[in-house]
Amino acid sequence: MNKTVALGVSSSIGLYKACEVVRGFQKAGLGVRVVMTPNAAKLISPLLFSSLAGTRTIVDLFAEPETRRIEHISLAKEIALLCVAPATANVIGKFAGGVADDFLTTLFLATRAPVLVAAAMNEAMFLHPRTRANIARLKALGVEFVEPEKGYLACGDEGWGRLADPEAIVREGLRIVGRSESLKGKTVLVTAGPTREPLDPVRFLSNPSTGKMGYELAREAVARGAATVLVSGPTGLVPPAGALTVRVRTAAEMEKACLEAFPKADVVVMAAAVSDFRFKETRGRKAAKAEIGPSLAVERTPDILARLGRAKKPGQLVVGFAAETHAVLAHAREKLAAKNADIVVANAVGEGLGFGTDDTAVRIVARTGPLQETGTLSKREASRVIFDRIEAELEKKRR
Ligand code: C5P
Repeated sequence: MNKTVALGVSSSIGLYKACEVVRGFQKAGLGVRVVMTPNAAKLISPLLFSSLAGTRTIVDLFAEPETRRIEHISLAKEIALLCVAPATANVIGKFAGGVADDFLTTLFLATRAPVLVAAAMNEAMFLHPRTRANIARLKALGVEFVEPEKGYLACGDEGWGRLADPEAIVREGLRIVGRSESLKGKTVLVTAGPTREPLDPVRFLSNPSTGKMGYELAREAVARGAATVLVSGPTGLVPPAGALTVRVRTAAEMEKACLEAFPKADVVVMAAAVSDFRFKETRGRKAAKAEIGPSLAVERTPDILARLGRAKKPGQLVVGFAAETHAVLAHAREKLAAKNADIVVANAVGEGLGFGTDDTAVRIVARTGPLQETGTLSKREASRVIFDRIEAELEKKRR
């Protein structure tokens, strides 16, 4: 792997183990650039890491750069991973709060590379509600964690907070770097958000979908190197950088956009909450209430997923979603068969989960392999689990 990892080292006593992390990445063929916090540089000389890594350790945000380039920005663009080991409660808090007052915290904000954090601190600090909230916030942003271990701590206490084994940190880091190209050469079509079926220019039929899940899925497809087409119903979200976003309004428009993208797609993920009904008659100008009368006739919209499921070629993988209020698994299994999908991702809606929330809990039903259930995860984390399964199923199709 001809890539560079930035290894952030902050001032936990466990920082001596970071030497092994440098070695581990190097053994895998990665270049390592160590970035120390000023406090870490008080505990141990940056020279130790410079000698090990064979590159100058960075500590000072305002040091005269070697070239005319602004170093934290150029490094931010160059790296395949930012791994922070050990990460103190302070660094985690700054990451979570967006504070950027040294090179490491500035690099965190400047990079779009994946971030892996291995926390190390006293148990009380690790279990403090503030630290728990900071970690949860970062997880929701897509930061991944290697959990600390339980054992003897530098302060003399026994408990959670020891830096994880360097081998485990390196293993996780390599997995993340490998994933960044796992869908290279593939095209992924993702649908997201609700559709709006108009009655007239000021009234429509829709649902509470905000598009968060679909946007996270598109982001994940881009992160894995796929050429990504995001067909999005009306949402207030910023489209992920690197995806080709096609904005649509109605189910009919969504169907058209999907049919256009489908022939080139290796994977289709239908996360959109397509409105099942539309008005039989629509009007070009606002209708008066009296004109409309007591009832309105509706008709079914096209079932896009079922259509793509029927048109699917042997190499293509089609994923549907099932948002249900009851009998979640039974409905998901029915959909898998009825729509000829390869995977159905089921989630319960209502009571704090589902539409518009940041978190979700999913059950993944596939034609082959086991039923997979996640606990409550951020939609960012859930999209990773879903794509891991998509890749596993793609691999089976290849064989
Ligand atoms: O049948 P149901 O609407 O419950 O199925 C949900 C799945 O089917 C989702 O993946 C959704 O995107 C897709 N769907 C569709 N076209 C519709 C309705 C749902 O593609 N008209």
